[in-house]
Amino acid sequence: MLIAPSILSADFARLESHAEEAVDAGADWLHIDVMDGHFVPNLTFGPLAVAALAPLKRRTGVVLDTHLMITEPERYIADFAKAGADILTIHVEACKEIGPTLKKIRTLGCKPGLTLNPDTPLDQLSPWLEHIDVAMIMSVYPGFAGQSYLPEASPRTSQLRSMINRSGSNVLLEVDGGVGPDNVREVRENGADVVVAGSAVFGGVVSERIRALRASSAPVAQQDRATAS
Ligand code: DX5
Ligand code: ZN
Repeated sequence: MLIAPSILSADFARLESHAEEAVDAGADWLHIDVMDGHFVPNLTFGPLAVAALAPLKRRTGVVLDTHLMITEPERYIADFAKAGADILTIHVEACKEIGPTLKKIRTLGCKPGLTLNPDTPLDQLSPWLEHIDVAMIMSVYPGFAGQSYLPEASPRTSQLRSMINRSGSNVLLEVDGGVGPDNVREVRENGADVVVAGSAVFGGVVSERIRALRASSAPVAQQDRATAS
């Protein structure tokens, strides 16, 4: 399982070094939460934040996983691609022309991802499975870090897992919001390939938090062995 710490919970005054702590501790991706104050009530950052992390990506190979919580994302994807984003994930609710936008993301050299709010039916995602590399379940309503995991995300994750398996595609299933040591194993068992964690990683000593997350995600039998040894 891949871990994608969300820099929304990082210390912006030392963004690069804080993010680097996560990468050094084994983070696979860095999740960059872009909010426009329109699609969601909060405002965060734009392509400059991605550009600020591009040297870290070049040094370490970490994947910049960019979550666009913005209306009409097609207006900005070229800027994010130029800034160094690897994955560009758009919301089905925010984009009028989903097909052309996913295509444009790929043409720009990035991997297209698609996500949807907790109350949007999953069948809005299924027609696009063959056109994307990442399908993401929102386990909170987008807009803020530090919210509680919504239990209804679990059956949705399992359903999406089955849809992806049935489609025979290699799409990675990512789960975003409220994931921490207490529920990461459940999220993994629901079929997640990638988990986003903001406050659970940057709310303490990053290396310890990532280690805890990884340990808690292991199947119970493995955890018992680790405790016994
Ligand atoms: C919510 C964002 C999430 C969030 C994750 O709008 O998309 O990525 O910041 O933060 P935690 O893990 O604290 O819920
Ligand atoms: Zn996110």
